[in-house]
Amino acid sequence: MKKSLKKGLKILAFVLLLLLLVAVGGWFYLKSKLLNFEGNYVENTELNEVTIAGFTFLDRNGNGELDVYEDKRKTTTARVTDLLVQMTIEEKIHVLKGAGLGSGMGMTDPGVGIPGAAGVIVPTPRLGIPTIYLSDGPAGLRIEPFRENDKKTYYATAFPIATLLASTWNTDLVSSVGDAMGKEALAYGVDVILGPGANIQRHPFNGRNFEYYSEDPFLTGFIGAAMINGIEANGVGTSVKHYVANNQETNRNNTNAIVSERAMREIYLKGFEIIVKESQPWTIMSSYNKVNGTYTSESKELLTDILRDEWGFKGVVVSDWFGGFDAPAQISAGNDLLEPGTKFQWDALIEAHENGNLTTEDIDIAVRRILRLIIESRKMDGYTYSNEPDLVAHAKTTEESASEGMVLLKNENSLPLPKGVNVALIGVTSYDFIAGGTGSGDVNEAYTISLEQGLDNKGFKINKEARAIYESHKKTNAKKFVKPEGMNAMFVPYNPPQIEYTQDQMENVAMVADAAILTIGRNSGEGGDRVEVDDFLLTATENEMLKKTVAAFHEKGKKVIVVLNIGGVLETSAWKDQPDAILLAWQGGQEGGNSVANILSGNVNPSAKLPMTFPVRVSDHASNKNFPLGGSSFGMTDVLTSGKIVPKDEQVRNEDYTIYEEGIYVGYRHFDKNNIAVSYPFGYGLSYTDFEYEALNLTSENDTITIAVTIKNSGDKVGKEVVQIYVSNSSTLIDRPIKELKGFAKTQNLEPDQTQEIQIKIPVSELRYWDDQKGGWALERGTYKFQVGSSSRDIRLTDEIEI
Ligand code: BGC
Repeated sequence: MKKSLKKGLKILAFVLLLLLLVAVGGWFYLKSKLLNFEGNYVENTELNEVTIAGFTFLDRNGNGELDVYEDKRKTTTARVTDLLVQMTIEEKIHVLKGAGLGSGMGMTDPGVGIPGAAGVIVPTPRLGIPTIYLSDGPAGLRIEPFRENDKKTYYATAFPIATLLASTWNTDLVSSVGDAMGKEALAYGVDVILGPGANIQRHPFNGRNFEYYSEDPFLTGFIGAAMINGIEANGVGTSVKHYVANNQETNRNNTNAIVSERAMREIYLKGFEIIVKESQPWTIMSSYNKVNGTYTSESKELLTDILRDEWGFKGVVVSDWFGGFDAPAQISAGNDLLEPGTKFQWDALIEAHENGNLTTEDIDIAVRRILRLIIESRKMDGYTYSNEPDLVAHAKTTEESASEGMVLLKNENSLPLPKGVNVALIGVTSYDFIAGGTGSGDVNEAYTISLEQGLDNKGFKINKEARAIYESHKKTNAKKFVKPEGMNAMFVPYNPPQIEYTQDQMENVAMVADAAILTIGRNSGEGGDRVEVDDFLLTATENEMLKKTVAAFHEKGKKVIVVLNIGGVLETSAWKDQPDAILLAWQGGQEGGNSVANILSGNVNPSAKLPMTFPVRVSDHASNKNFPLGGSSFGMTDVLTSGKIVPKDEQVRNEDYTIYEEGIYVGYRHFDKNNIAVSYPFGYGLSYTDFEYEALNLTSENDTITIAVTIKNSGDKVGKEVVQIYVSNSSTLIDRPIKELKGFAKTQNLEPDQTQEIQIKIPVSELRYWDDQKGGWALERGTYKFQVGSSSRDIRLTDEIEI
């Protein structure tokens, strides 16, 4: 071998060795800082029961005596106070941060913990205080289904996405879904569910809109509160997220939302305010972004002045995962718990306490709140979990709730379909239904019922010719049909290629099938925003597929039904004239196909209404001028670069900062004020029956307006109606929306000709607006118009009242 070659190889070997050492060293360094750094803080599970004077308790600190904090008969306050006195300052600081991302990444020792649970409240072994488990998320538990050396599976139920649940406008139903989620969490030993999401759907392209309820804060607030009350009735907590103004994924860890005080109060904070007042959740999760220059997790104004002092929130504020920058500033501002926790944060807290930048008083305030949560948890009660959730019952809850949240957008004498007909399923998503979005809103469910299976279950015949086309397409593109797994599944939405049908294929199918059901699917999630082309708009292939299907089936006098299996708003106005019916199925969780089949077969009469506007063009939204339209997604490094200072002249609009120029004019508030045509308005949704509105009566007593109205089922099918109350001040002197949702109710199932009187109460204080000049809520006197409607643009009865 030549000398120079030998030398070259030696250098190469040396460089490779160096790189290996750096990689190994780097891995161990990161592991010790981010994943696992708890040292001796290992949960003490060897607790003895002791009986003193006839009372049996767990002797958590092993001193053979009954301490106040060990005594269930004492008040939470007394127990927390006792614990606080017994804890050392080291133990207190320790509990302010989680144990790292190890558990969230499934890196737990066999038999220990809950692999996949995103975070924990760390244990205090000396005092026998247990570990508290926090797990995503808004559509069900995101825990690992498999565990090392364990044959058992730990699947969770994929419930419908939040947007679908909001579309039910049924708070009782949403509570029952919450109840099932709470029971499942309890069975799996999860103490706090990281959800629901309560951010406002400011723009249709936010990749996480599916985790949120609505463009309207009133609907968000009451649906959210119903969910929380349902979950928490089981002794399981929630973490309402992401507080606040977290409306884009682009540069989410560093972006600065520049929002007027009025828009904050009336739109972005309002849903959270209702939630706090109606359900007092165990925890609230602060968001990643800044608001008007300050990270929300470091904002005393948001976390202490508004949330606690004004609204009366009593629980714990948890940071979003690695959110914020300055750990001591977060604690002092009122962000009590840093998740998932890092060694950097732990060190920073110790140092800040030592040098006087973090006071013992501030530490005590945060620790007190965390201890209250621990004391009130079922775990502290000695509760042992079964790992046996009732997945069958929860699947039933999923199917029922999803059926009630699917919105019938169009129906020209085609639905329900006659029983047992032969249906041609067109489009890949019909066979590969999407249960929910990706990211932390994802769930590891055991199965997903596709549309095909659902229709088959309800007695429809699945057209074999259409199926064969799908099968051969899948075979040809086998690699693209492999679903991403693990971390990949979190951030890469599964998106198999669409089928390009030939004219002949479609005509053959139309000949033998009785009707076509064409599914359009979309999937998005945490870490990326959506875009217009090939996402909000139909793709060229989808347009072509729709045209061919409609032409071939209409030619034979047969119907075409479009099913939208999507998580966020889609453009519809350009193509909605073509099919005979459109069902917005959303992403209905693991039973989605069964739920769609319930509607298509008429087993369930649709009663859902849109919780947001479907615009004609995305640019019709006032927020469109100030939203990142490029769909750039975040990288793992973004997570670690919170606090990065970008010089002012290098800041990129809509990435480093986003100006909420539209103020309070979000969604229908904007479309209605400016009289802009929409494709489908807020609150819209069809039924297989009709409803009449009668006998509107407004009364005012004790600063509350009562609206009474009678709803009659004037059609020929059993069904439910959503009654919506929109209020405006007809004599206003300031700039206000011409319609704002201030009340809603859903009727029971009404038989044909049956009537139901609905009563809705609206406190006069809810008619106030935020006066930026005064810096407070203000009530304008004058004439208030109450519009009672079946949608925001289908007002049936109106009356006025002087205030
Ligand atoms: C998300 C949160 C989630 C957390 C834990 C974050 O990236 O923004 O919504 O609860 O991760 O998984």
